Amino acid sequence: MNLARQIEQYLPRQLLELVKDISGQAAKRGQRVYLVGGAVRDLLLGYPNFDLDLVVEGDAVKLAQQVAETSQAKLLAHHRFGTAKLRYENFTLDLATARRETYAKPGALPAVTPGTLKDDLVRRDFSINAMAISLASNDYGELVDPHQGKSDLERRLVRILHPGSFSDDATRILRAVRYEQRLGFELETQTAQLLKRDIPMLNTISGDRIRHELELIFKEKQPEFAVRRLAELGVLPRISPFLKGDGWIAEKFDRARRLKKPAQLSSLYFCLLIYSFSEKGIEQFLARLNIPAKLSRAMHDTLRLKTNLPLLDKSSLKPSKIYYLLREYEPVAIQANAIASDSSMVHRSLQLFLTKLRYVRISLNGEELKRLGISAGPEMGKVLQILHKAKLDGELKTRADEKKLALSLSLKLER
Ligand code: CTP
Repeated sequence: MNLARQIEQYLPRQLLELVKDISGQAAKRGQRVYLVGGAVRDLLLGYPNFDLDLVVEGDAVKLAQQVAETSQAKLLAHHRFGTAKLRYENFTLDLATARRETYAKPGALPAVTPGTLKDDLVRRDFSINAMAISLASNDYGELVDPHQGKSDLERRLVRILHPGSFSDDATRILRAVRYEQRLGFELETQTAQLLKRDIPMLNTISGDRIRHELELIFKEKQPEFAVRRLAELGVLPRISPFLKGDGWIAEKFDRARRLKKPAQLSSLYFCLLIYSFSEKGIEQFLARLNIPAKLSRAMHDTLRLKTNLPLLDKSSLKPSKIYYLLREYEPVAIQANAIASDSSMVHRSLQLFLTKLRYVRISLNGEELKRLGISAGPEMGKVLQILHKAKLDGELKTRADEKKLALSLSLKLER
């Protein structure tokens, strides 16, 4: 099957030119370049995907170095892995030396040696990700599909390439569910059986790698689908016995998306995911996933604030009181509680803090306060605190109001 027409149709002209330039330079070096993985899958599905991965039969780093010398591209090379990134003004291209992989033991990173395109495709996770398109001029656009990926796309199936796939690399358990839910596919029957069989193999995967896969799930449009499916398949308890993928999570994730920009969503999803955890549960989870310090603080804050929410469930709270109750918490923990809490009063207070109170600053600076007779040190600290409190409570509207209050405080202090 030839996909030249689809490539020309789907890829932006500029990107196409870059790819053709690379392939042309490769040909002169006696190398062949292929488009592989997700971009081929999405091209066949008709979905836009400009994240191109190129596989080179031969040394990809040397080819990328040559391309960088003759173009505006910035080069980032990893000699050890035989991979390189070419960064152009509007696009980035990933090049990798075609490789053969062998797994010494389950969960270990594979031993890698240079190989052919076929070697490179057979080491991959699923048939739908194990296709390539030739970019060489003599067979430009030809689909290379040794594992019937195209047929699986048509049957809407996620299928592994061999029975040891999940035990070689158990992150594929999470990946399988991510693709299944993103594409609205199903796990092929034997793949589903092997996935369930190999769930215990998740124990062979480091915390960083599991966390990374969860982060990839959190980048999906509706990650709650994958979370629910992971629960249904019995995968979640292997990560933490306290994890749930129920309707509550689905509803809160949906609400989170309407509030947060995609770049900040991941931490918010994490905080919602652990909302029903005990202290012990959270410690286990943080350790298992090797959660970094900032996110770990946010997750702890989420639970600490949850137990303190009754303090905010009152109608007569002054804004300054709300501010003092919340200022120590990570904003994402406050956001998680605003989403999770059923009390509209609590919700209002948390939102008031997030949208307004935390940004309130007085306009007068230290120099101006000195000119009003307030001396630097504890005295100024005290005045600043009073001014800030009054401003939070809406008692100071203008700079003149601030000056007036500061002056009266300075006179009081003199006495
Ligand atoms: N891959 C794999 N096993 C893994 C991770 C990745 O076989 N544990 C292979 C797959 O063939 C995948 C390719 O490496 O297609 C690139 O991986 P990645 O960039 O994570 O996925 P994409 O295919 O680009 O798909 P998407 O970004 O749409 O998720």
